[in-house]
Amino acid sequence: MQNYHPIAGVLRDKVILITGAGDGIGAKVSKSFASYGATVVLLGRTIAKLERVYDEIVSAGGPQPAIYPLNLEGAGLRDYQELATVIRSELGQLNGLLHNAALVGDLTSIELYDAAVWQQALQINLTAPFLLTQACLDLLRSSSNPRIVFSTHQIKSAYWGAYSVAKAGVERLMQILADELSGEHQIIHVNAIAPGDLCSPLIKRSFPGKDTSRLPAIENAIPTYIYLMSNDSDGVNGKILDGQGNILE
Ligand SMILES: NC(=O)c1ccc[n+]([C@@H]2O[C@H](COP(=O)([O-])OP(=O)(O)OC[C@H]3O[C@@H](n4cnc5c(N)ncnc54)[C@H](OP(=O)(O)O)[C@@H]3O)[C@@H](O)[C@H]2O)c1
Repeated sequence: MQNYHPIAGVLRDKVILITGAGDGIGAKVSKSFASYGATVVLLGRTIAKLERVYDEIVSAGGPQPAIYPLNLEGAGLRDYQELATVIRSELGQLNGLLHNAALVGDLTSIELYDAAVWQQALQINLTAPFLLTQACLDLLRSSSNPRIVFSTHQIKSAYWGAYSVAKAGVERLMQILADELSGEHQIIHVNAIAPGDLCSPLIKRSFPGKDTSRLPAIENAIPTYIYLMSNDSDGVNGKILDGQGNILE
């Protein structure tokens, strides 16, 4: 899919839920999805950040978005079921689900890793996407050409602890889901993007003191997010793409 240039309106008539939509990749991808015609549901834990993204979409003339404040750390299956019910009643459909929110947690050795932070990171990075997916499956199935996309990070080196372990789990979750759902009458395409290190708040926080300004901008990876959310990626299923759209696995 290299050199993908989405056509105007490629996401028109789609409703897409984005987690971690208030900052970093989630904020830029949400604005971009809206600029290509999608109605976006902005989920995150900091309302002021979500409102800023909302305002920017509205002032750019995009379809009216929705804000859904939720802290993935404390949310349980019922919270996600309620979210799916609200989207069904207010918007009538859900064509895309982007699991993007993330918490890096501690950057330390496994030997020294704090058990409570380990639980927190696994909850936000892995268990929350599992529960949210489960709650949204019926709604996705009843919507046209549905997609689930995960933001992943293929980081396997020392000190990345629970974040790295959770992302490995996310990739396996994606592959299992893609396999389970591919035989259905209404196929739900399930894929992941590993954008590589980008100049984002998460990377800046993770490398204090390092000049991250030379890293690729978030914008470089956005066409891949659009591609996997659009009907242009029909037939691509169970794959991990890099930020340029190359299939890694
Ligand atoms: N940046 C990169 O270079 C890179 C590389 C590979 C993969 N990724 C993946 O891309 C995704 C986005 O990364 P990013 O760099 O944009 O990260 P980011 O700038 O740290 O943004 C993460 C977002 O997740 C939200 N979030 C965190 N904990 C949450 C919780 N408990 N409940 C609800 N929302 C929560 C944050 O909300 P607040 O703003 O309120 O804190 C924030 O909006 C992640 O899945 C990451 O693993 C990023």
